[in-house]
Amino acid sequence: MTQAHATLLPPAPDEQLFATIAGDLLTTGYSINPCALPPGLAVELLQQLRKVPDDQFSPAGIGRQQDKTLDRRIRKDEICWITGESAAGRHWLDWTGDLRVFLNRHLMLGLFSFESHFAHYAPGAFYRRHLDAFKGQSNRLVSVVAYLNPDWLAGDGGELVIYPQAGSADGIRVAPAVGTLAVFLSEDFEHEVLPARRDRYSIAGWFRVNSSSARRVDPPL
Ligand code: OGA
Ligand code: MN
Repeated sequence: MTQAHATLLPPAPDEQLFATIAGDLLTTGYSINPCALPPGLAVELLQQLRKVPDDQFSPAGIGRQQDKTLDRRIRKDEICWITGESAAGRHWLDWTGDLRVFLNRHLMLGLFSFESHFAHYAPGAFYRRHLDAFKGQSNRLVSVVAYLNPDWLAGDGGELVIYPQAGSADGIRVAPAVGTLAVFLSEDFEHEVLPARRDRYSIAGWFRVNSSSARRVDPPL
């Protein structure tokens, strides 16, 4: 193909989305995108989620590794880590891998790895206002949340609320409708999950930078 032809082709849909996310991260630090997941991927992830037996989900903890504590007053979701053993999980990891490469190329973030889990919030479950990472204490740099709930109605609750200003009560509400993708800087945005009236499914993930030192391998292998 000649150069002239190449420049006439519209960019692939993911490239447009990734460019929007990169631009938003640069300007405001957060990016909310309805209908962002490729439809085939959303369907596949939903089907996979329905196949995962309940006993593969365990109550989510707070903090990292040895520090992990369970506090049901803070979060009541159940999670299942995505390892890439299923085709759907692999496709999700490939897709977020493409986003990682795009963000590195355009924002020089040096994102090194990605971890993510399915989350199930039973009716009434919530996750109180929190930060995903504290400066200097974690290598989580960019948070990604994808939603997997078809036919979500306004009255169903379960919104993600992102607070652009720490300590302020003004937040941006995101309905957990299938295909919506929220991306934000993990150290900068407090956020919470409001209780829902229905079962609520999401994937939460984090792009991480490599903060290994000679004495500690982080992220763990
Ligand atoms: C998290 C989180 C948000 C959501 O798992 O840290 O904030 O909407 N999840 O599921
Ligand atoms: Mn969070």
